[in-house]
Amino acid sequence: MKIEPVNIFFSEDDEAFITTEIKKCLQRGQLSNGDHVEAFENEFATYTHSRYAIAMSCGTATIENTMRLLKVANKEVIVAANAFFSTALGPLLAGAKVCLADINPTTFAPSVEDLENAITENSVGVILVHMGGIVTPELPQIRRWCDEHNLWLFEDCAHAHGSLHEHQHAGTFGLAGGFSFFATKVITSGKEVCSLPMMKMLRQRRDSIGISGSRING
Ligand SMILES: Cc1ncc(COP(=O)(O)O)c(C=O)c1O
Repeated sequence: MKIEPVNIFFSEDDEAFITTEIKKCLQRGQLSNGDHVEAFENEFATYTHSRYAIAMSCGTATIENTMRLLKVANKEVIVAANAFFSTALGPLLAGAKVCLADINPTTFAPSVEDLENAITENSVGVILVHMGGIVTPELPQIRRWCDEHNLWLFEDCAHAHGSLHEHQHAGTFGLAGGFSFFATKVITSGKEVCSLPMMKMLRQRRDSIGISGSRING
């Protein structure tokens, strides 16, 4: 059996809408940032019931930027062992050591016990991946365990647009969540990406890193 890797479909209505909006950008000469990105951020925040949504260049950048803001250099970040390479790359680029946590084969995510086996005195946080959009039912226990151990929780939601745990959107359980809008993802935008930081500090600091300080009060 031959399985096609991906077959991305745009309806005629979608095509007409996209080309009209792209034309507006070309006519205005604003090819990045601006109204469209702001509308995207606002709509994604509303959709996920998040306080903020922030567009970045790619899903990997949501992880790396958050890690830099959290000052993880020379610390340890626990990453689910079934993650995509980018999940570990974010903390590595920010200077952290990555400590892989095994997963529970029935949830595709680490259980609290797996995290217990991975934590050390240098651990500062946990990056979970909602692999294939599946949110582990143990998420509330994992969140509680992180709180008890003074660790932050970051959710890699590259596959999890619209994924829920008891009516709450993936990406809103921890400190922040990073989404990818790469061409093969659940929702694509070419390459624009969104992070859902739960803390205002992250939003303000990200603005100063993300667009070279040009949107520091944005
Ligand atoms: C689990 C996971 N995390 C992060 C990423 C990185 O996303 P991006 O390609 O937008 O940088 C991907 C991309 O495939 C992914 O699958």
